[in-house]
Amino acid sequence: MTDRIAFFSDVHGCVEALEAVLASISAQGISRIIFLGDVLGYGPEPAECVRRLRQCAEVCLVGNHEAMAANFDLSGMSPSVAVPLELARRELDDEQKRWLVSLPLTWNGEGIQASHASLHEPSLFTHIVNAQHVRRHFSRQTAGISFYGHTHIPVVYCLDDTGRLRTAPGQGEVQLDGAGRYAVGVGSVAFARNDDPRACWVEFRRDPPGVVFHRVEFDAAALESQVAAMLQSAVAAQAAG
Ligand SMILES: [Fe+2]
Repeated sequence: MTDRIAFFSDVHGCVEALEAVLASISAQGISRIIFLGDVLGYGPEPAECVRRLRQCAEVCLVGNHEAMAANFDLSGMSPSVAVPLELARRELDDEQKRWLVSLPLTWNGEGIQASHASLHEPSLFTHIVNAQHVRRHFSRQTAGISFYGHTHIPVVYCLDDTGRLRTAPGQGEVQLDGAGRYAVGVGSVAFARNDDPRACWVEFRRDPPGVVFHRVEFDAAALESQVAAMLQSAVAAQAAG
């Protein structure tokens, strides 16, 4: 059992941010990576992100965007969701698609649980954004600590033995004092939903027990421009029939 593991989530087809995170993890001397889902969707380079993650991560979980790309009729969805998923359907080869649909919803090992969204009915991909969601997630958490993505918001929740819920912001180092069970939102590699656009990954340490939120620079503004151009050309192509 290694005492340092890197967790990250929500790459969303952004190779530049993924490479920045992988370089940061490597610079920290960490070799174990657990990826929490949504390798594709929103961004412009799904196939390359799939290829790189398969090289580097020992565990990859399925996210809601992979589930949508594999199973859903995209015609009623907003262009910002549907266009990148159609791109993924075109760009991924058959072997990559088979790999994506084979991914598990959850991982459980070494005293850790991991999932893309809430552990409460993982296939529904429920966000964890309020106290009720957090308590439902903990109701299915048997391990001392869990890691999840999906919300794009870094945070640490602690449910102590008396049932009291505490929240710590997902920044810097957060020590785990053993006073309860922990659920760690790892933020996102791309498309952050708070005021910090940098990529986020989380280092888990067993001794002393703690998590460290690492932030990594990438060109988020260029990514937004690329996405806008991709959507514009898709809409123009549709209008042209
Ligand atoms: Fe997600």
